Amino acid sequence: MKILVFAGSTRHQSFNRRLAREAADLARTAGAEVTLLELAELDIPMYNADLEARGTPPDVLRLKRLLWEHPAWIVCSPEYNGSYTALLKNTIDWASSPVAGDPDWGDGTKPFRGKVVGMLSASNGRLGGLRAQSHLAPLLINLECWLAPRAYALSGAASAFDERGALLQAEHRDGVRGVVEQVLWAAERMHGGAAA
Ligand SMILES: Cc1cc2nc3c(=O)[nH]c(=O)nc-3n(C[C@H](O)[C@H](O)[C@H](O)COP(=O)(O)O)c2cc1C
Repeated sequence: MKILVFAGSTRHQSFNRRLAREAADLARTAGAEVTLLELAELDIPMYNADLEARGTPPDVLRLKRLLWEHPAWIVCSPEYNGSYTALLKNTIDWASSPVAGDPDWGDGTKPFRGKVVGMLSASNGRLGGLRAQSHLAPLLINLECWLAPRAYALSGAASAFDERGALLQAEHRDGVRGVVEQVLWAAERMHGGAAA
């Protein structure tokens, strides 16, 4: 099973990037073929329809293909003002915008439809970014993703990782593992390893 893992943060010391790395390691241990995507490596501007009319940026096309090729995803969402980040929204907006006249990407929902998605979040606050998840869920469902019933919000994130970026407590690791394994389980049944 191919699984794509990414975080809605580009911060160097990001809790959510660390959580994404942990989820990727757990997915690898579970036998999955893992792609850990760093959004900082994509050259994607703020969405603007006039800009798009002059041509969809090449990295948006790369992103669409990456999303489409992976039947299972793990999204690690930071929480800004009780919601997900502008980076995550901008990434999803570009990825879901139809490319006029393109035989592959004329359907904006294509990269999203049927994906099995597990949500994780991390924050130093008490709710661990749970409110970001509650906003992200309807957005993903609207794009025809299938959300795993399990999700995990890591609170107190500033003291949750060791100096190498690994989770210190077994309880936290079990929470992440539970989501990763459920996503792989469901994606295997829905896709049997193939893209949508
Ligand atoms: C504009 C802004 C708003 C924030 N709002 C919240 C919030 O509503 N809830 C929360 O738990 N943390 C909030 N934070 C703190 C972030 O969770 C914190 O910066 C976190 O480290 C971001 O995730 P990252 O470490 O993956 O980059 C906010 C941070 C910023 C910059």
